[in-house]
Amino acid sequence: MTDIVLNIRDQFPILHQKVHGHPLIYFDNAATSQKPLKVINAISEYYLQGNSNIHRGAHYLSNQATEKYEKSREAVRRLINAESTEEIILTKGTTESINLVASCLSQFLFQPGDEILISGLEHHANIVPWQIAVEQKGALIKVIPILDSGELDLVAFKNLLSPKTKLLALSHISNALGTINPVEEMIALAKEKGALVLIDGAQSAPHMLVDVQALDCDFFCFSAHKIYGPTGIGVLYGKKAQLEKMPPYQSGGEMIKEVTFKGTTFNDLPYKFEAGTPNIAGGIGLLAAIEFMEEVGIDHIARREAELLAYATKKLKELEGIQFVGEAKEKAAVISFLVDGIHPSDLGSVLDKLGIAVRTGHHCAQPIMDRFEIPGTVRASFAVYNTENEIDMFIEGIEKVKKMFG
Ligand SMILES: Cc1ncc(COP(=O)(O)O)c(C=O)c1O
Repeated sequence: MTDIVLNIRDQFPILHQKVHGHPLIYFDNAATSQKPLKVINAISEYYLQGNSNIHRGAHYLSNQATEKYEKSREAVRRLINAESTEEIILTKGTTESINLVASCLSQFLFQPGDEILISGLEHHANIVPWQIAVEQKGALIKVIPILDSGELDLVAFKNLLSPKTKLLALSHISNALGTINPVEEMIALAKEKGALVLIDGAQSAPHMLVDVQALDCDFFCFSAHKIYGPTGIGVLYGKKAQLEKMPPYQSGGEMIKEVTFKGTTFNDLPYKFEAGTPNIAGGIGLLAAIEFMEEVGIDHIARREAELLAYATKKLKELEGIQFVGEAKEKAAVISFLVDGIHPSDLGSVLDKLGIAVRTGHHCAQPIMDRFEIPGTVRASFAVYNTENEIDMFIEGIEKVKKMFG
């Protein structure tokens, strides 16, 4: 192991434990990544010494907590290169961010006959909110089909686009297959038809540099817990012009300017969309997570994960009876596969007994499993702290399971 890998692993105490008597090998990073000490310490320091409500400005602790929470918003702005912190709404996570947009757009944008375009490989979080929105408004969902390679059918996409398309809601990277979608090109085409574009960046923010201004998307969502941060906090980026047009999502404290029994005026951006006391510790943890990524270097993270993906793919290809599900040319460090004659959950359970954590099942993306006519896959997903040695042990584990199942 190189010094840099060792140094990174040292920052993740959870990785240095045994599970079922074996060293833990954590390959479930697409579900959630582990947290470095920097994040854990930032959260515990807040509760040990800094706990206070924010935006009240009444005393020292409150001012300190507010400053850190707002520093987190600025760190998010920097991470995705948004123009202003007014465009950064802190939410519970990707799911809430998409629900916010779906709920607000269904109130003021969608009309009967309008179309929302999604793809066949979306996570349920980028399907169900649109189903609810169109049901309320008599609009329609159109689905971009998926090729056998796990890539989007771009010819079909172009044919599906029309002046009726009000929104393209698309994942940047598929959590189930790892496919990196050509979002730049697709956003440009959708814009030509006058559609808004929401990008589900839950799987891209952890692995690559994202520039929302260069992408020119209207909305971009991600979750802190997949970028080495805590659960329960995430991000909705929205272009200021769009956010200004949208009605509030939830109401109560924080999102108001003035309340009387005659009526209420709403707060400025971004607070208009942040009703109630937020997840302050989560925001402070998110700040530490972004600082961690910046210290390691997002380029380094991307490069390292590409190396791990190439190594694991090569090793798996050397085994007999492996069927890859999704072999897109552009892929993130996610491998979905099946082993002949072994049910994914059986493979997952035996690997677990060997200390190897993978995910099995439909990965909250049932439609793409239906597309491939399978109930689920085994998914190994890598992060910057994983190693080639762990991949070797994973391959040995699969060989053991294959022997067990004859
Ligand atoms: C592509 C994608 N979208 C959305 C989500 C939902 O994220 P969260 O559960 O953090 O809200 C996930 C989580 O796995 C995901 O991978």
